[in-house]
This record gives sequence, structure tokens and C-alpha cells, in this order.
Amino acid sequence: MSETPQSADLIVFGGTGDLSMRKLLPALYHCDRDGRLAPETRIIAMSRGGLDDADFRGKVDAEVRSSVPVDDLALWQRFLNRLHHVTVDIGGEDPTGWARLTAMLAGHEQRDRVFYLASPPMTFGPFCREANRAGLVTPASRVVLEKPLGRDLASAQRINDEVGAIFHERQIFRIDHYLGKETVQNLLVLRFANAFLEPIWNSLWIDHVQITAAETVGTPGRRGYYDHAGALRDMVQNHLLQLLCLVAMEPPSRNDRESIRDEKVKVLESLRPIVGGEVDRFTVRGQYTAGVCGGVEVPGYLDEPDSTAPTEASHRVETFAAIRAEVKNWRWAGVPFYLRTGKRMPYRSSEIVVQFKDVPHSIFAGSAPNRLVLRLQPSEGIRLHLMAKEPGAGEVALKPVPLSLSFAETFTSRVPDAYERLLMDVLTGNPTLFMRRDEVEAAWRWIDPILAEWESQSMLPEPYPAGTAGPAGAHELVGRSGRAWHEEDLA
Ligand code: BG6
Repeated sequence: MSETPQSADLIVFGGTGDLSMRKLLPALYHCDRDGRLAPETRIIAMSRGGLDDADFRGKVDAEVRSSVPVDDLALWQRFLNRLHHVTVDIGGEDPTGWARLTAMLAGHEQRDRVFYLASPPMTFGPFCREANRAGLVTPASRVVLEKPLGRDLASAQRINDEVGAIFHERQIFRIDHYLGKETVQNLLVLRFANAFLEPIWNSLWIDHVQITAAETVGTPGRRGYYDHAGALRDMVQNHLLQLLCLVAMEPPSRNDRESIRDEKVKVLESLRPIVGGEVDRFTVRGQYTAGVCGGVEVPGYLDEPDSTAPTEASHRVETFAAIRAEVKNWRWAGVPFYLRTGKRMPYRSSEIVVQFKDVPHSIFAGSAPNRLVLRLQPSEGIRLHLMAKEPGAGEVALKPVPLSLSFAETFTSRVPDAYERLLMDVLTGNPTLFMRRDEVEAAWRWIDPILAEWESQSMLPEPYPAGTAGPAGAHELVGRSGRAWHEEDLA
């Protein structure tokens, strides 16, 4: 593992798709602009698109250039010159694509070779087999798997077996882009580079934790994917559970590839299973209907514009999910972890709220418990809500005031996108922020019974109008124990 990447060939399967155009190529351009790509590094997009290098460069020039800062045309041109395109149809009859790729890679076996699979999970196994058959998998190869890894435990295990038959576990990078976000990194620093939190980071002092990933976007044009994913598979199984792990894990002994992942797996394995009849008590699912979101009238999930018409699966899929989870160990016994995610919520915000217990005996009227808020997006930062006295004579009046750390105000450097960090980690061979096989499977093991129960029920997800904070059931889920979602932190 080295910090400055060597020359590499980065082969992106699904290289002309949405993820590539919206996230990967802009992130790679930023890395290149900052001088973090070795001069010889090539980016080779693979797709069924029938493009040649010039077509692909033209497409990137037309579609990506406007979303990145191009202040130096020579740098932009240098980036375009790194781009290539190979037409390959996985499982298809025509072997010429693989032959062309083989010819492009010949003589470069010593370079790092990264296969980035930005494609549906069912293609992961076939891709690895065909790449291996074409003789392209070298000892210096790595493979990056985009989420979702499967749709349940069994399919995740099958994919892991198929990919594992070709690549060694240390060559497999399972990406969860939330782990590349600055505040997520900062959560580790906050917890493990500051002494004051550790003594109170437990059930004696913490009342509960809320983890929210709220989005204003809906799912126009994504029906094909979303009908079969839903919020639980799309956001909870990966992003939200990863955040929960980072909040709940024990201090690792080292900041290295295995120590952090070992601790995260222990958290996932300590999650109290939610099974059978408990699913209705501890989970809520919703689907948005038409409403006003961000001042604009938007259609409901079933009426989102799409090339395919809604089916039975569309009616059943959840665009909102909330869960009351519990980590059964000494540190966290009895502390609820409320997880919540939804599309077409009133705001876009991802936050972790750690709500401390109230003072044991208050001598002032109007006191409220302390709250630590870690905001992932937008405007990354950390806030600690403390009680303070409002200035003035007479009766003591209390007011909660935040101690705020805004990253944008404190650090002048640009906050890189999560994909920049993670792509550089792939190129330098650092897997710390990627999910290990046992982690992914432990997460599915906990999610599977919830999915099974939801799928067995005839009841449809609870409707909520677009632009509102989810269905009524989500408020009951926390309200039952006299708690409430901290909307004011999110808005
Ligand atoms: C992706 C999901 O993993 O994360 C999307 O597939 C979701 O449905 C996205 O919109 C959210 O990412 P971010 O970084 O915008 O919070």
C-alpha cells in the first residue's frame, strides 16, 4: 500500500452509466486536477454503447464538463486524453470487445489494474469470470463492487462466492460511499482522538441515537431499480447501518484495514434481531404520494415519469423506512438507535443525533438534555447543544445554544466528494473504508427477517404526502417512548 498511486488502468464497467457520469468521472477529474493521478493512468469505460474513444471523450466533454470546475483547459484536455471506451456485452456472443481490452492492457501487467463494477449486482459474477477467462486478472488487480451487494443474504453470499472464486478478499473493495464522506471520517476522529467523550459514550449517559438520511429527490426514471430495491435495501442495509456501526463500535486498537472493520462487524452481530410479529412494532415503511416538495408540486411514487408502467411491486415498495434498532452489548443495552430514511422529505439532510440523558435533578425550569449533532450533509459540521442562561436580571431563563463546528468556515480547503476519497483509496490499495465480506453478510442477516415479514404482509406501505417527514407511523415509533424526531436539527 502506498500513498501516491502508481500508474493504473481503471476499467469502469457501466462506464457510460449514470453513476459514472455523475459521480466517478467528476471525482476522477478532481483527483487529476489536484495532481493525484499518475501521468500514465488510464480510465477505460466498458459498456454496450458502441462508442469509440473519441465518441466517449465527446460525451464526457458534453455531460461532465459543466459539473466540474474547468479553469485550465489544458488540464481538462489532459483528463479527456486519459479516457478510452471499449464495447463489451457481458454474456454476449461477440468476443471482440474483450479482445480489444486485452490488447489495450497487454504490456501493462505491472500496473495496478482496477475493475470498477458500476453495474447491477447480478453482473458481478459473470464479469469476473469473463475477465478471468480473458486472462485480464493479474496479481496486482483489484475489483470494486458497487452497492447494493445482492438483494438478501443468500444472493449476497452467492455474489461473494462468485467474485471470491476469482479475486482474493484483499483484492475486493465493496464500496459504500457514505464511508467516504468527511463527517463520517470526522466521527472517528471525534470519538477516538478526543478523550472527553469516551466516558459518557454509553447507556449511562446517552438516552438514544437518531440516524436520518432524508432526501428531497424522488425516483423519476428509476422505477426499474427502485421497485425491487426500496429504502431498506437501498439505504438502510448499507449507509445507515454503517453509520450506526461507527457510532456504536468499540475503540479499535489501530487505524488499519482490519481493526476498524473487526469492530464494525461486532456491532452488526450485536444488533437485536427484529423478527416476525416484532417487525410491526419496531419498523415503519411508507410510500410518498403527490405533494409539494421544495415549493414545487411533485407526483406520487406511482406517477413518477418512467419508461415502464407501475406494477404490483411498485405498489408494495417503500420509499421511506424507519426502524428502532438495539445493540445488545454492555455499552449500549437499552439505548434505542432510531434509523430513518426517505425520499421526497421536506429537506435534504443526513445527520446523526446523539441525545444525552437529562440532568438527574434539575434546579432550573425549562432545562433540556444535551444533544450532539453530526451533520453529514449539507453543510458538514458538528454541533453540541448546551443549556445556557439567557442574559438578564430576574428569574433565570434557560436556552439551548449550539457550540458549532462548521467545516466550511473552519477549514478553507475544498471538501472533497466521498468518491474522490474512496477512488484514491482503491488506487493506493487501502481497503479500510470498504466493507468486508463478513460485514455485508452480517448486515443482510439482520435485514432479511424484516424484508421477509414486509414481503409476507398484504398491507401496503403507509402513504405520506411528498414534502412531509414520513408517515404517521414513524412519529409513533419514537413517540411511544415519549421521544420525538429532531426535525429542528435537520431543517
Ligand atoms: C445511493 C442510493 O446509494 O445513495 C440513492 O442508491 C440515494 O437512492 C443516494 O439517493 C444518496 O446519496 P447521498 O450521498 O446523496 O446522500
